[in-house]
Parts: sequence; structure tokens; C-alpha cells
Amino acid sequence: MKLDRREFLGLAGLAPASLAIGGLPIVARAADAGPGKPKIGIVGSGNVGSALGSVWVKAGHEVMFSSRNLEHDRALAAQLGPNARAGTPREAAAFGGVVMISVPYRSLPDVGKELGDLIKGKVVIDTCNPFPGRDGEIATWAREKGVGMASAELLPGARIVRAFNAIGAARMGAVHEQPGRIGMPIAGDDAEAIAVASRLVREVGFEPVLVGGLAKGKYLMPGTPLAGERSPEELRRIAAALD
Ligand SMILES: NC(=O)c1ccc[n+]([C@@H]2O[C@H](COP(=O)([O-])OP(=O)(O)OC[C@H]3O[C@@H](n4cnc5c(N)ncnc54)[C@H](OP(=O)(O)O)[C@@H]3O)[C@@H](O)[C@H]2O)c1
Repeated sequence: MKLDRREFLGLAGLAPASLAIGGLPIVARAADAGPGKPKIGIVGSGNVGSALGSVWVKAGHEVMFSSRNLEHDRALAAQLGPNARAGTPREAAAFGGVVMISVPYRSLPDVGKELGDLIKGKVVIDTCNPFPGRDGEIATWAREKGVGMASAELLPGARIVRAFNAIGAARMGAVHEQPGRIGMPIAGDDAEAIAVASRLVREVGFEPVLVGGLAKGKYLMPGTPLAGERSPEELRRIAAALD
């Protein structure tokens, strides 16, 4: 379901459960899990993946962590209790009603190829940022194209929402203690995916601020006007002035 600009602005403030398509609550349809508690598959269990996954486990989600280091992920899951488990990236992508991809941008082409059949049609949260110094030519390409559109090309068919891109991982596990004070810019083209991702963003303690479609994903990066810790109101003001 594509959105026009007016719909974006309306959706930004709506609770997911209040949206319905075809008579079914969006969260249940989109995440293919119980209302509000979709299973989450995490691809990339480093700073960001482990911080966010830990919060979601504590919030009652079943979470599968994955990377190319299964032993690391088993140890992480063991610390978090029975709602956490470890698997390969393909197992995590199959497990999650929602999949979060949180790898260095240079790994995104491989991840897209490896998981392509599994993530098609799924809600995918994309935290990945391209840095030419770290990620090489793919990062230069992604920045020129606009990172939201670049991720869409690398993860074809996934219902991508960019989120958690421009706040340090060290803060991601802490803000749920004072929920709603800090805004989290998000961008996506799919209304159901935005609703699902918004709920997950709130569970981490941030207030989601929908900036626009994936074309606006280029602003969800360190070094852009939306980066850093800002109130939801300030983010909305800044977002409204972007082209
Ligand atoms: N750190 C931050 O504060 C922050 C904040 C916002 C956004 N981001 C962005 O979010 C992404 C992740 O950042 P991070 O700091 O969490 O990175 P990180 O600590 O280096 O973790 C990256 C994870 O991805 C895994 N990985 C790499 N290549 C993979 C592949 N081909 N298949 C499966 N797993 C793979 C790594 O494990 P293996 O190498 O063992 O597979 C590791 O678990 C980056 O794009 C970053 O720019 C970071």
C-alpha cells in the first residue's frame, strides 16, 4: 500500500492497532504473529542488533539473532533467556514476522542475495548506513542514489522501513526508561510496514516521526539535519523543511 504525502502526515501519529485493511488489524496481518508481538529476526547482531534485540526480548518478543558467527549469537541469546535464540541469517529471516537488518553497508548486497526469497513481502527494518571509508564503493553509490532507494534496490520486494539510523547504538538500550522524549525519524513506502515498525520503535522508547517515503531515507543518516537526539516536535519541524 503506497502512501501520498497527506497520508504520510496522518499516519505518523496513528496507533498501529487503529489501522485496518480488509477488516484485519494491520499489525496481525503484516507481521504474521500475535497482535503487537511479532517474532523478530535480526540479521547482524553487533552494536545495534544486540542492543535493539535485547530490548525487544524484554518487551516480550521472540527474537532470533544471527550473523556469520553462530557461537557469538548463541552466547548472546543465552544471556537473554528463553525468548531469545540464535540461528543463521536465513533461519532468522524465516523466523521473523519482522526482520531487522543491521550490517555494515558493504555486506548489504550479499545479505540481499542470500535472503532475497525469504524477505520478499516482509517488513524489514533497515538500520544500515553507508560510509565510503568503511564500506567502499557501494557506500558512494548508495549516497549518490539516496540510501533509502539504494537499500530498496539491494533488498528487492522487502517492505523496508529505515529506522534507528542516526542515533548511537549505546543509547538504544537505555531510552525505554523515559519513553517518548526522543524522536526517531523513520522512512518507508508501505503503510503496514510503517505501522509495524512504529510500534517497535515505541517499544524501544523513541517516538517515531515519519519523515516520508524511502526517497527521504537519504536524510536518515549521521551528519544530516535529522541526526542526533531531538524531541519529536523538533524532528517534525526539521522534516517539514526538507525537500
Ligand atoms: N553503531 C551505531 O551507533 C549505529 C547507529 C545507527 C546505525 N548504525 C548502522 O547499523 C549497521 C550496524 O552497525 P553496528 O554498529 O551494529 O555494526 P557492528 O557492530 O559491526 O555489527 C555488524 C553485524 O553484522 C554482522 N554481519 C556482517 N556482515 C554480515 C553478513 N554478510 N551476513 C550476516 N551478518 C553480517 C556482523 O557479524 P559477522 O561479521 O560476525 O557476520 C555483526 O554482527 C551499520 O550499517 C551502521 O552504520 C550503527
